[in-house]
Amino acid sequence: MEHFQQVEPFDYVIFGATGDLTMRKLLPALYNRLRMGQIPDDACIIGAARTELDREAYVARARDALERFLPSDILSPGLVERFLARLDYVTLDSSREGPQWDALKSLLAKAQPDRVRVYYFATAPQLYGSICENLNRYGLITPTSRVVLEKPIGTNMATATAINDGVGQYFPEKQIYRIDHYLGKETVQNVLALRFANPLMNAAWSGEHIESVQITAVETVGVEGRAAYYDTSGALRDMIQNHLLQVLCLVAMEAPDSLEADAVRNAKLAVLNALRPITDATAATETVRAQYTAGVVDGENVPGYLEELGKPSATETYAAIRAWVDTPRWKNVPFYVRTAKRSGKKVSEIVVTFRPAATTMFGATPASNRLVLRIQPNEGVDLRLNVKNPALDVFNLRTADLDTSIRMEGGLPFPDSYERLLLDAVRGDPVLFIRRDEVEAAWRWAEPILEAWKHDKAPMQTYSAGSYGPEQATQLLASHGDTWHEASE
Ligand code: BG6
Repeated sequence: MEHFQQVEPFDYVIFGATGDLTMRKLLPALYNRLRMGQIPDDACIIGAARTELDREAYVARARDALERFLPSDILSPGLVERFLARLDYVTLDSSREGPQWDALKSLLAKAQPDRVRVYYFATAPQLYGSICENLNRYGLITPTSRVVLEKPIGTNMATATAINDGVGQYFPEKQIYRIDHYLGKETVQNVLALRFANPLMNAAWSGEHIESVQITAVETVGVEGRAAYYDTSGALRDMIQNHLLQVLCLVAMEAPDSLEADAVRNAKLAVLNALRPITDATAATETVRAQYTAGVVDGENVPGYLEELGKPSATETYAAIRAWVDTPRWKNVPFYVRTAKRSGKKVSEIVVTFRPAATTMFGATPASNRLVLRIQPNEGVDLRLNVKNPALDVFNLRTADLDTSIRMEGGLPFPDSYERLLLDAVRGDPVLFIRRDEVEAAWRWAEPILEAWKHDKAPMQTYSAGSYGPEQATQLLASHGDTWHEASE
């Protein structure tokens, strides 16, 4: 695969190495990059976690994870062995000092000291500060070291600041890579290409021509084994404060001067700073929150959120928000953002509805042009146009869809978003990672919504598992004469 370039030799240290994210996403992603020839043979991947394991036991877990989370046709025995040979493991409590840190140091010392070192934090975020403190105490921070921080960066502004300060004490901002896996998704990056490489789109990309934007990421899964985490988080913190706001930024931002990290991040930050605050006074009209009750998903009966949890909870599993970007470009354009667990299907998409043509030539007003960017599944772009209806003698209109898939050559599946991002950290390319001020600006907007909900300004609604969400979310759009995409298909 000549279009994938090998990266320079590196050491990847994953804290939280026995956790679900490492097993489900990180190790399979690294295996796939090795399969594509991007990982050199002398690269090292070192797992670190509290579980007492020796190298062999960790390698056995890694092998199971690859078999479980990757399709068998891409697991060639030779490649799997080559990948597993890259792995090492150290038992280590990242919140404490101790000789295990020296063990990590000696594993790292086997490699050249000046090669790229990535520390990936896949632990509870409260530990990020103490991991950095220990990395520093044991002399593990080199000039070529960088840290990758998994979300959530805090649960509000204060905790986000504490996490960022804790890490920032030991690493300069340019060595901190805050991951948002939505930015690693092909169609999300495609927003930039579609907008700025196509004058056709670019010229129409403002409130003059756009009536509304919907950004949706709904999924069929419930909270599964993650209830303990999820119940402290909820839909707004888990998906909107990060992933969906990032998508919104790409849709709404002004053209960056270049694709350099800071140019793109500055443009995104300007959008976050222009988001109209939602307060106690407006939460009832601009937001909907809800919890799923028992229902049917993919033909299976599933329990409600509270039954799964086994206790009362004020955590939302669904959120829909009408957001406003107060810039001249987006005057009077609502951005509807929504996310749900236990929805009827798994879909992430951006739907841009244009204003209808102001012509009386055809009698009835022509339908609005509508652009759908399918993030997943079936990545692609669908544009609804008006055409002459050939089935009638009179000149009348009907709609036709220009629908194109965005695919890899040979119909191969897209690399998982983590694959790209894990190696961007090695390459030292931060453009698809989040800068500190973006995290803070996102919290500045999200926290007052959480506060308003805490003050019960928008009542908790319910929706049946397997449905599209509560009736109130339909009303949120109806007040502007809009409908959710699935209702207008
Ligand atoms: C994660 C959330 O960040 O994104 C999960 O914590 C969610 O709750 C997941 O399921 C969704 O990601 P994707 O790529 O499947 O849309």
